[in-house]
Amino acid sequence: MMFNNNMILTTIVLAFSMTSTDAAPSAAAPVVRRTCFTAGTVGTECGQFIQDFCNSLTSIAFRNNEAKCYDTPNFKCDFGAFLEFTNGLTPPVGTPAAATCIDTLNNVTNTCGGFGGFGNVSGGPTTFTLDPNQGQCKQLEAPGT
Ligand SMILES: *[C@@H]1O[C@H](CO)[C@@H](O)[C@H](O)[C@H]1NC(C)=O
Ligand SMILES: *[C@@H]1O[C@H](CO)[C@@H](O)[C@H](O)[C@H]1NC(C)=O
Repeated sequence: MMFNNNMILTTIVLAFSMTSTDAAPSAAAPVVRRTCFTAGTVGTECGQFIQDFCNSLTSIAFRNNEAKCYDTPNFKCDFGAFLEFTNGLTPPVGTPAAATCIDTLNNVTNTCGGFGGFGNVSGGPTTFTLDPNQGQCKQLEAPGT
């Protein structure tokens, strides 16, 4: 087996990630940090809403988030974008790049076994989340579903 930079990066990511269930590293890796949920509702159907969510984002203030909920026939999909990291001296303010959001959430959809998860892209201040949950949007829910 070749030992390359991608594997070293994955090892570092795993070391800092409590709940990750990383598969083998793939060739292209724009997403440097992605953590999968390991419990709760399972459903890869949430992937169909990634484009709409990521293109709907507006300017987010530092340490604020934007969230959106989408219904499937059997469960709902909670999406979020949380502007939480500074890259320099001044807090970032602005609209997260749709492509960054899409790359991150596609990774979650393709590699988290339907549980959902969250992540960011190298240099990016925003954490993006995709989370399938029981019930439908606007209904009350039990925590951790
Ligand atoms: C998805 O995220 C994992 C964990 O951060 C990473 O190892 C993998 O390279 C990413 N895949 C892509 C296609 O970005
Ligand atoms: C991505 O997440 C990590 C871990 O929480 C954080 O330290 C980093 O600032 C974020 N942005 C980058 C540089 O990828």
